[in-house]
Amino acid sequence: MESLHNLVRISLPNYLKNLPIPDSFAGLFKLNASEIIKLLPFLGIVSFSVYITYKVTCPAANRRSTKTLKCNPSICKEKEKVVDFVEIEEICKKVSYCRCWRSKKFPLCDGSHNAHNKETGDNVGPLVLKVAE
Ligand code: FES
Repeated sequence: MESLHNLVRISLPNYLKNLPIPDSFAGLFKLNASEIIKLLPFLGIVSFSVYITYKVTCPAANRRSTKTLKCNPSICKEKEKVVDFVEIEEICKKVSYCRCWRSKKFPLCDGSHNAHNKETGDNVGPLVLKVAE
């Protein structure tokens, strides 16, 4: 307990008192190399504390990783961008194009969106093109 007391009451205040913290933001640019090196651990701890506080308190930071933000889980992953072209004349009476990125017949819909919606609570469905009568 005494070592904690010494850390909080003596070592930490002495450390903070000796930090070369400038009076203004512009003062940061006047620091020499040894002063900057002295400040680095302190800035690292402050930055880490701000980051942890943000992660714990901000719901948006905890929502999803970038991996789960991807809407295409498996289709043509070797391509930089998946683009499909369809000649208008190829469309007969009605055709459904997948918008959930789960179809085994992509870009056509094969009904896989139903399983995806049931699993995730999502509500995606195909783009249906119909020839006007
Ligand atoms: S399978 Fe993807 S929208 Fe139907």
